[in-house]
Amino acid sequence: MGERLAGRISIITGAGSGIGAASARLFAAQGARVVVNDIDADAAAATVDAIAKSGGDAVAHVADVTNPEAMDALIARTVRDLGRLDVFFANAGGAVPEPTEKVALAEYRRLIALNLDSVFYGTQSALRVMMAQRKGVILMTTSGAGLRAVRHLAVYGMAKAGVISLARSIAADYGRYGIRANAISPGPMATPGFLGWLATVRDGLRRFEAQVPIGRLGTPEDIAHAAVFLASDEASFVNGVTLPVDGGVHAVFASPAVDGAARSD
Ligand SMILES: NC(=O)c1ccc[n+]([C@@H]2O[C@H](COP(=O)([O-])OP(=O)(O)OC[C@H]3O[C@@H](n4cnc5c(N)ncnc54)[C@H](O)[C@@H]3O)[C@@H](O)[C@H]2O)c1
Repeated sequence: MGERLAGRISIITGAGSGIGAASARLFAAQGARVVVNDIDADAAAATVDAIAKSGGDAVAHVADVTNPEAMDALIARTVRDLGRLDVFFANAGGAVPEPTEKVALAEYRRLIALNLDSVFYGTQSALRVMMAQRKGVILMTTSGAGLRAVRHLAVYGMAKAGVISLARSIAADYGRYGIRANAISPGPMATPGFLGWLATVRDGLRRFEAQVPIGRLGTPEDIAHAAVFLASDEASFVNGVTLPVDGGVHAVFASPAVDGAARSD
């Protein structure tokens, strides 16, 4: 067990799977007391069990992040039961690609609710507690689709770009209250959500890996390590950034593949 987040009361949303689950495990391994939120009760319980088996401290809280009253209740319960709120990590989200002209209005609204509205609701509720404490860390999971256009992810990209903007605004407005806000931008990650979609794409894994400079998909733990750093005092002067953790995907400008194709004449 490490000490980098010793005693930090932390809420992580969407922590029943993937990036959220790995972050909950790593936060707990660094001494945090973790409130594991998910809409899926079994998934949240599995994360809590895994943490308990490793000697960590976690409780489950089942709630739908798209419901503002449920977010208020999550944060109120945390403060009531655990005394305060040190870290709020708005991580739940997701989408599968769909051509923009085919996105039904109900699906558009669902994607914005899950990937943008939810982050605002939780952040606003957390801010009210953290302002009174004059201390706190807010983390958000954005996406490469929020930094640049990813094919057929227009609505998700709109929402994730909004998350980046929200992190900057919180940093600008609440730094004076001792509150930091930062976003993490994962690249293509080997999580249940992404792998499920990739399985529907012909030769998907090989084609995706070929586009990552490091040559592999990321792991949920790759993101969790960045989240621990940003949540910890090691990042006490890091505020308002979006940290890509994507094997270098964000750094690459599209170009024809010329490796090994130099002319010899
Ligand atoms: N996997 C990737 O390649 C990738 C890339 C970039 C960004 N992201 C982002 O990372 C975050 C986590 O993604 P992941 O791949 O770990 O996903 P995942 O599908 O593996 O896990 C997401 C979890 O969120 C929960 N969830 C879904 N809707 C919810 C709701 N309304 N309320 C509460 N919980 C809910 C799910 O039950 C699930 O346990 C998301 O914001 C996603 O957009 C993922």
